[in-house]
Amino acid sequence: MDKPKIAQTEPYEVNLKTGKYWWCRCGLSKKQPYCDGSHQVTDFEPMKVEIKRDGKYWFCGCKHTGKQPFCDGSHQALR
Ligand code: FES
Repeated sequence: MDKPKIAQTEPYEVNLKTGKYWWCRCGLSKKQPYCDGSHQVTDFEPMKVEIKRDGKYWFCGCKHTGKQPFCDGSHQALR
């Protein structure tokens, strides 16, 4: 598996509290957009994300963003 699986071709809109989160990079997690350990059969590692302010965030769902872990609009080219 050299490319991530496209979990969905749109971002995940989430309301987060200050804290640490693990963003799924491989696309295999069943708990999108967060890691559930599924990457262990791949060469991918989840990304640790530190949220410093409560608020709304858009995590990339297509796993092809250039601004990991957040959506940069790249998913539009994958539809
Ligand atoms: S969902 Fe991946 S760039 Fe928008």
